[in-house]
Amino acid sequence: MKRLAIVLSGLLLAATAAHAQEVPTLPFKADIGNQASLQRGARDFMAYCSGCHSLKYLRYNRMGQDLGISDELLKKNLILGAAKVGDPIATAMPAQSVDWFGRVPPDLSLETKAKGADWVYSYLMSFYLDGTRPLGVNNPYLPGVSMPAVLGELQGWQEMEAPAKGEGGEAAPHFKLVQPGTLSPEEYRDFVGDLTNFMVYASEPTAFERLGLGWKVLAYLFLLLILTYLLKKEFWRDIH
Ligand code: HEC
Repeated sequence: MKRLAIVLSGLLLAATAAHAQEVPTLPFKADIGNQASLQRGARDFMAYCSGCHSLKYLRYNRMGQDLGISDELLKKNLILGAAKVGDPIATAMPAQSVDWFGRVPPDLSLETKAKGADWVYSYLMSFYLDGTRPLGVNNPYLPGVSMPAVLGELQGWQEMEAPAKGEGGEAAPHFKLVQPGTLSPEEYRDFVGDLTNFMVYASEPTAFERLGLGWKVLAYLFLLLILTYLLKKEFWRDIH
């Protein structure tokens, strides 16, 4: 028993140590019930991200159904090139991209599941100017990042103030906006929030069905309860 306790506390310590090395993320709360936010996120993902990243587990028309976007609007505004409404969301990026960035932009279908929505939100908030990098920017959440700061025009350009390493472990990074973007800081926060919210939805489109199914199951059980009660009363009526 004692040995088990020692092993367990060892594991716990190791887990805390591993955790302490990560840069703390900004808090983000997804709300996939907010359809307007998901629609904005989808629009912005198509405009700013799908040039490089696919969402290969999500089909255009599935997204349209879930988000209340008609096939007409999908075709007109969101679908790239010659893709059909029933196709998975692909990227326009040709295969040579490996050479352009040193890394293939990964598929983002499961990104918020793999890294957490907080992490994705923080990453998109935290590109900063760094003259030592080939693209002129860096990111504390993915040091040496090879993705360009594609939202720089909107967010503006910022410098990192405090180094990511604090004295007592890691501290959350601080930024100073040195050149404002076309969006105010609040607008940019909302923009990234919608984008992250959409990616949370994209990582599990069936969540909508599950939510719907849950209520049906509860309603069914409730009905069953009433029927069972009535049946019980019926059975016992003659005996009492
Ligand atoms: C010009 C191409 C390009 C565009 C446009 C682009 N990205 Fe990226 N993205 C990349 C590359 C390349 C990487 C790999 C970075 C690395 O590992 O250093 C990446 C990495 C990422 C990652 C981290 C993946 C991981 O876990 O390692 C996320 C999240 C991400 N991109 C989100 C987005 C979002 C959201 C948009 C739209 C606002 C976007 N990207 C637009 C090229 C792009």
